[in-house]
Amino acid sequence: MVKIVEVTKEEGWYTGLGLLTPSDEVQRDFVADLIRADFRFLLPQDPEAIVLDLGCGLGTLTQVFAAQSRLVMAVDLTWERLRFAQLRLEQEGFHNVIFIHADITRFRLKPGCLSLALLNGVLEWLPLSCSGGPNQIQAAVLARVREWLAPHGWILIGIENRYARSQLKGQRDPHSGLRGTAILPRSLANGVVRAAARWWPQGMKQRMGRQREGYRTWTHSLPVYSRMLEQAGFRAVQAYIPIHSYNVPHTILPVASEPALCWYLGDWWSGHSLRRRLIHTQGKIARLLVWVWSRTAEDFFFIGRAG
Ligand SMILES: C[S@@+](CC[C@H](N)C(=O)[O-])C[C@H]1O[C@@H](n2cnc3c(N)ncnc32)[C@H](O)[C@@H]1O
Repeated sequence: MVKIVEVTKEEGWYTGLGLLTPSDEVQRDFVADLIRADFRFLLPQDPEAIVLDLGCGLGTLTQVFAAQSRLVMAVDLTWERLRFAQLRLEQEGFHNVIFIHADITRFRLKPGCLSLALLNGVLEWLPLSCSGGPNQIQAAVLARVREWLAPHGWILIGIENRYARSQLKGQRDPHSGLRGTAILPRSLANGVVRAAARWWPQGMKQRMGRQREGYRTWTHSLPVYSRMLEQAGFRAVQAYIPIHSYNVPHTILPVASEPALCWYLGDWWSGHSLRRRLIHTQGKIARLLVWVWSRTAEDFFFIGRAG
């Protein structure tokens, strides 16, 4: 990342990103793709908005919101990512962004000063930056964000589902690099992570990073996320399923709309005549299929109003 920042300074951010190797988790086109912020169409559009982009990473969402808001505050713990985002936004000609190098779990703002807070791919990582129960750390940050928002303000969360089909099928947990850690009871996941840190090859140990002390990157199920937001004081909480993922949301389906989910599944299952026919009946079995499918979606977006 240090080299990318150097090249970005000299030759521009898009060239800088060319140094990402094919094995890097994030690729140039992915970082450049502004479709990643399409969840904005779920939220009120306000050119006077003051937006907080928590865990702004390489600045993709920051760039989109800088173009449609009065001010964006972009916060990240990783200095090189923040510096890259700053250079990117400067090179794109934006002067309405403040970059803040800070740990979200220790960050403070004046109550009621924000119109919108974004936590896209961030909430699950927060328990790695401090000690204490992952649930408590995530809940405390949500409650604080709620205080910083004006009564008409909104929060947006993009995050993985603990019980995603990929996890149930035994694919690697993207947060630990191990299989099963998301869905196992937390105490067992702790044991798996500690054992892996002790016995597995060096490469795997490095990938696990700070996680090796125990499993801390907690994701949750759809009802648990909704409850966490409500307990933090958010109202009108709504859940959405992004297809293919919250990072590349080509289609965004409201969980509360059965017809929308049936429409999508009917289309998606067009090659499976039995499933398609069942969905089109809109009867009890169709409802059960929709329920299971939505509860095992890969990712969710959540929005909630502060007041
Ligand atoms: C998966 S990236 C998401 C980046 C961005 N939100 C996006 O959607 O493109 C998570 C980001 O959160 C940042 N992060 C993780 N823990 C943090 C903390 N405690 N305080 C501030 N930033 C943090 C990381 O440095 C990283 O840039």
